[in-house]
Amino acid sequence: MTEIYDVIAEWLTKDFGKVTAVKDLELKVRRGTTFGYLGPNGAGKTTTVRILSGLLKPTRGKASVCGFDVYTQREQIKASTGLLPETPGVYSKLSAVEFLEFIGALNDLSGEVLMKRIDRLLSLLGLEGRQNDLLESYSSGMKQKVLVASTILHDPQLVFLDEPTSRLDPAASALVKEIIRAMAKETETTFFICTHMTDFAEDICDIIGILTNGVLTTLGTPQEIVENVDAKNLEDAYLKIVGGQVDRSKLLSWRS
Ligand SMILES: Nc1ncnc2c1ncn2[C@@H]1O[C@H](COP(=O)(O)OP(=O)(O)OP(=O)(O)O)[C@@H](O)[C@H]1O
Ligand SMILES: [Mg+2]
Repeated sequence: MTEIYDVIAEWLTKDFGKVTAVKDLELKVRRGTTFGYLGPNGAGKTTTVRILSGLLKPTRGKASVCGFDVYTQREQIKASTGLLPETPGVYSKLSAVEFLEFIGALNDLSGEVLMKRIDRLLSLLGLEGRQNDLLESYSSGMKQKVLVASTILHDPQLVFLDEPTSRLDPAASALVKEIIRAMAKETETTFFICTHMTDFAEDICDIIGILTNGVLTTLGTPQEIVENVDAKNLEDAYLKIVGGQVDRSKLLSWRS
């Protein structure tokens, strides 16, 4: 059986003026798998996701997403993927149901199918009873839940989640994790997840990539990465690979 890859990137590069946000990225993500993208602030994760989801053109290199080219087939990419952006906006004067109806319509969903999906997702995420309240009255975590729902509503082939658990309480994070796990197991959905939560990534990702200064330095299963650097767990491995241990004596030196 030939393998299908929902992401194939070759020498993919993005420059912003003098800053190279992503440099010569080589990456393949197999259909139906969950890929975790880790790396320090400013490493280039969001830039990669913006390119792969059709929002931003690369400077050079090649990439295809769900079989579509990132330069010439961005509309097809948007139709086949779902994106939870890093700093999403919601229409605050819409209710959760109205917002999801709007997102559904953008993805050619309507009628009974759409309403059933919206009802089920909102109740799964514990928002039933509040579904007709305006989003401006929601807490930030409640908005994040509605955004997660909007990302998977049209059952996309590939789901990009840029820090999905930021703003979520531990129970909601665990629920999102279970939704991802169930979709990954029972459907052929591919997930591409940027996260700083190493335990979250270790739990659900088949493959992890670590990006540092725009360069993919590490790629493997969580277990391979942990074993390669003789670490206790993925957090420990990440800190060994990326650094981040600060000399204790320096911590309060800013006061003197
Ligand atoms: N629109 C832009 N214009 C100029 N520089 C940008 C732009 N977007 C990103 N950058 C730069 O590209 C680099 C990578 O940023 P990016 O947002 O991709 O990082 P990230 O890995 O998602 O970080 P974080 O973990 O903080 O979300 C940074 O140096 C950033 O300043
Ligand atoms: Mg980011």
